[in-house]
Amino acid sequence: MINDSNESLVNVYRIIRDTPEELVGLLAGIQGEYHALEERTERRDYFMKKRRVFNEEHPDDITRAALFIFFMRTCYNGIYSVNRKGRLSVTFGTGSRARILEEELIRFNHKLLQGVIILDGDYRQTEKYAGEKSFFYFDPPYKPVNEAGACTSYMPDDFDDDCQIELAGFCKDLGEKGSK
Ligand SMILES: C[S@@+](CC[C@H](N)C(=O)[O-])C[C@H]1O[C@@H](n2cnc3c(N)ncnc32)[C@H](O)[C@@H]1O
Repeated sequence: MINDSNESLVNVYRIIRDTPEELVGLLAGIQGEYHALEERTERRDYFMKKRRVFNEEHPDDITRAALFIFFMRTCYNGIYSVNRKGRLSVTFGTGSRARILEEELIRFNHKLLQGVIILDGDYRQTEKYAGEKSFFYFDPPYKPVNEAGACTSYMPDDFDDDCQIELAGFCKDLGEKGSK
């Protein structure tokens, strides 16, 4: 079982599990168009156009997954961000010839994800999987080393110190139920 409260990220996992070849086809198209652009400004315009499509045109799930991967490969420092309204606000990166399609990786992960339950919601909903046969791995938002380095804006509601403490308590509860 995998869980994340970011539905756009979870959608990528589900598409890789269920329809990898369609995803590969779309990413090949995006990569071809993006790499054909010579100037950084043209690439930035392409990026912004795709961001508008993602935020405003309600694309289907496969297109959303392809665009999400494209943004993560081309945005500033690969940092995901959304604004207070929950709209994707990633900014354009260096404009280098980033590899957008990694078909071997998609096919490899497609195999790994067969039979995996993929949930999108708060981590607390995973409590029902606790028990002596369970192993939990958490990859929560990082606590920034300083205010300037704040990097907790994965979701509109920041994951603050209270959330980190609550998560630690949740881990303790899982342990008491026999989970590793
Ligand atoms: C460091 S990132 C981990 C990224 C992830 N492992 C991946 O596949 O890329 C932290 C993740 O915690 C998720 N998150 C934040 N608050 C959450 C919550 N209350 N319940 C579940 N996931 C949450 C964010 O959506 C974000 O994807």
